[in-house]
Amino acid sequence: MDIVFHEGTKQFHLFNDKVSYVIGIFPNGEPGLLYYGKRIHDREDYSYLINYEFRAMMVGKPDNEVFSMEMNRCDYPSFGTSDLREPAFDITYENGSRVSNFQYVSHEIKDGKPGIPGLPAVYTEDDAEAKTLNIRFKDELTGMELILSYTVMRDHPVITRNARFINGGDTSVRIEKAMSLSIDLPDRDYDWIQFSGAWGREKVPIERKLDEGITAVRSMRGHSSANHNPFVILKRKNTDEFQGEAIGLSLVYSGNFVTEAECDTYRTLRFMTGINPEGFSWKLDPKEEFQTPEAILTWTEEGLNGLSQSIHRLFRKRLSRGAWKEKERPILLNNWEATMMDFDEEAILKIASKGKEAGVELFVLDDGWFGKRDDDTSGLGDWYVNTKKLPGSIGGLAEKIHDMGLMFGLWFEPEMVNPDSDLYRAHPDWILAVPGRERSLGRHQMVLDMSKDEVWDYLYERMHSIIEEGKIDYVKWDMNRTISECYSNGTPAEEQGKVYHRYILNVYRLYEKLIADFPELLFESCSSGGSRFDAGIMYYAPQTWGSDDTDAVERLKIQYGTSYGYPISSIGAHVSEAPNQQTGRITPISTRAAVAYFGTFGYEMDLNKVSDEEFSEIKKQIAFMKENRGLIQSGDFYRLLSPFEDNYCSWMIVSEDKKKAVFAYYRILSEPNSAHRKVRLKGLDRDRLYHFDGSEYYGSELMEIGVEITEAPGIEWKTPSGDFVSGVFVIE
Ligand code: GLA
Repeated sequence: MDIVFHEGTKQFHLFNDKVSYVIGIFPNGEPGLLYYGKRIHDREDYSYLINYEFRAMMVGKPDNEVFSMEMNRCDYPSFGTSDLREPAFDITYENGSRVSNFQYVSHEIKDGKPGIPGLPAVYTEDDAEAKTLNIRFKDELTGMELILSYTVMRDHPVITRNARFINGGDTSVRIEKAMSLSIDLPDRDYDWIQFSGAWGREKVPIERKLDEGITAVRSMRGHSSANHNPFVILKRKNTDEFQGEAIGLSLVYSGNFVTEAECDTYRTLRFMTGINPEGFSWKLDPKEEFQTPEAILTWTEEGLNGLSQSIHRLFRKRLSRGAWKEKERPILLNNWEATMMDFDEEAILKIASKGKEAGVELFVLDDGWFGKRDDDTSGLGDWYVNTKKLPGSIGGLAEKIHDMGLMFGLWFEPEMVNPDSDLYRAHPDWILAVPGRERSLGRHQMVLDMSKDEVWDYLYERMHSIIEEGKIDYVKWDMNRTISECYSNGTPAEEQGKVYHRYILNVYRLYEKLIADFPELLFESCSSGGSRFDAGIMYYAPQTWGSDDTDAVERLKIQYGTSYGYPISSIGAHVSEAPNQQTGRITPISTRAAVAYFGTFGYEMDLNKVSDEEFSEIKKQIAFMKENRGLIQSGDFYRLLSPFEDNYCSWMIVSEDKKKAVFAYYRILSEPNSAHRKVRLKGLDRDRLYHFDGSEYYGSELMEIGVEITEAPGIEWKTPSGDFVSGVFVIE
């Protein structure tokens, strides 16, 4: 890995074993992306990649008209000059003009990767792991400065980028758009894959061929959202799960975003991501700076599984932080689906104690323990323990749970308030709303104005004090409605365009402070399931509740879709009761567990209510997970059969040393007299002899011949096992 600067040509070559990224300074002083892709040889001069060509209607440099930004591959394109495709940034100056010309001034190359103050980012543990290039540009006329920052990682096929604007002039400007990165690729022969959905059906991969025009996903909801995810893949037409070229683009941000690809009519492609410019307008006074979030480019030629594995490794090792990032996650029991908000201390202790008997390690008390909170119409915001339900307060309950030998976790939804709450009665101006206009309600709640420091102070004081009182081990941080009527009361008119972003910055600051105060605390993020499941939140919370939909069949799709951009160790997955509360479907408890094993495992039900037979099966499931979670949470995950395309789903996880694997398959609906189905396993050592399902096979046999996953005709067909069956096998 290195970053080489070629003085004579002013070109930079960032590379590691896998990828190269070549930046050149164009004749107008702006940066160009001369090459991005598989590692190439370094050379002094790649200027042959700068285009000088005449095209009708084109505009170019006055002293050299054949140089036009439009005909070149830009690296952070500006608004309104000789390139009229989508710009990466847009600044309005004091006189109303929007044209900038950021020219190269200087650069520095450093070992390691500096953090981004106040924002989540990939990090290194040792400076030898990465190199960072900061290139400084200046717009001479206005004094505005731009620093583009690039990091190449030694052990990951990854380039990270961010941009920083500094107002070095003497008048205020307005930044109307500031992407985290923009890259131009020389052809547009890619398929685009986005991950979209809604509550209860998150992250469905949606694929389409790119063509002339703009393809985009975005959020205007104030959170990254279940509707579209800030992770997009570009893949070559022939790329499949196991081979071929693909690029993943992840935005490390949890608020409004846009990721888009623009194909121009010369068959080239622009690909960018950043804060959604809609609803964003940042007034920057002289000497002030604006910092974009980080974006991560991951490249592979090993297919979509290869791409996902690289992202998983990076996120697990160098995006998640803290005590829990690579530690085996506790098996938890959450009371939400068991009791909703209707409980008292006795009921909770009974559920927790049965969990302990089953082998659970962490008990989580969900919504309803505070304020006047008997249903979702009241109490939100009043973070004071409801002593009618919990006479001994949180401290008293926590002590009893801890005495059972369990860890204790608690639910919070800090960013919200019910109109019927003491908090709202005391501070009606603490919500996001436009004075004099109706404000929308969602789940009977309003959104607190997190951009206000006094709101932050209140939440910090309350959360800190409760976590301390209960010696809380785990916090489920929820966020259950979209932001609307985003207006901050008391904030000057010209600062209103900052509110969405400041909101997220203060969410991050609250996480950061609580992590600093309680370094052993495990955070699980949640937003009605996966509505804020993104790379930004992963920096604070190593796991996120995958979906409120706990139905095993639905979860196959949700977890399969989520696995493209996020590691298995980040996906909260629980076994819940049957019939399932979201779909009414009855699935065997074995299949419910077989799906939930591939995530951070737990139960979301009252174990006192299951039959003795089921309870003993649950004990075995927990023992299985304790034995295998180390591998499941840290191994290489392979998608084998897609539930989006098939009546079957299959996946497996292989340890880094390839000595052990866990393989699972699922057959959704029963089939009479099934045709043969074989799954070829992946990632094993060809020459190693493995134990599999009572016999021994070479890795080569398991991978080339595969394993049969249909019911054996002649034996079981007379007593067919029915719908929703699964098999989970440890391969050693
Ligand atoms: C959201 C979460 C659930 C649960 C409820 C509590 O819907 O996703 O898991 O915590 O809130 O109100």
